[in-house]
Amino acid sequence: MIKACIFDLDGVLVDTAHYHFLAWKRLAKEFDYELTEEINEELKGVSRMKSLEIVLKHANVSLENQKKELLADRKNGWFTEFVHNMNPNELYPGVRELFSRLRRDNIKIALASSSKNAQTIIEILGIQNEFEAVVDGTMIVHSKPDPEIFLLAASKLNLSPADCVVFEDAEAGVEAALAAGMKCVGIGNPMKLKEANRVVNAIQNFNYSDLQKI
Ligand code: BG6
Ligand code: MG
Repeated sequence: MIKACIFDLDGVLVDTAHYHFLAWKRLAKEFDYELTEEINEELKGVSRMKSLEIVLKHANVSLENQKKELLADRKNGWFTEFVHNMNPNELYPGVRELFSRLRRDNIKIALASSSKNAQTIIEILGIQNEFEAVVDGTMIVHSKPDPEIFLLAASKLNLSPADCVVFEDAEAGVEAALAAGMKCVGIGNPMKLKEANRVVNAIQNFNYSDLQKI
């Protein structure tokens, strides 16, 4: 019996994954490196610093830590500019409906995002009160694909991992959910998210009656 749904944020509840992509692409250009959507898949779900390291590796650039911190801050400045221009209408279609069905059935709702901007984003979207537990990038040591973030969410909900289903758009996130001993619904491309127990191309296409059958 599923007792909780744990949602990733960027790319699952809202299209901030695209804003991350645009900001990384802009940074990569400074090294004459053209970041593609394909390579961007590797950046999804992982921490800001880890994402930067992946970009630099592909661009064949090696830098000292202090310089890396500066670049990560620059990228975050561009990303947060997008975020502050967002409005509640950017919440993906189907999210509010899914939340209200879960609440009606007494299934808990949690957020587990690697982003240190998650709290700001959910406040801008006006969904901060929807969650019984919020875990973000400021609260964890190891980001996805490590299961830490999902295990922390389950413990905040007082549930065991087997009671939880995770909704994820990142390969690293699917891996983390399964490593935590949870079921996982992939949001996106089934070729990329093939380890997930179910995959839909958008959260609004998740069939609610499937939840207890995953
Ligand atoms: C994840 C995104 O949710 O958060 C990653 O999928 C991002 O692309 C990571 O790098 C960290 O986000 P932030 O906002 O802390 O830089
Ligand atoms: Mg995501």
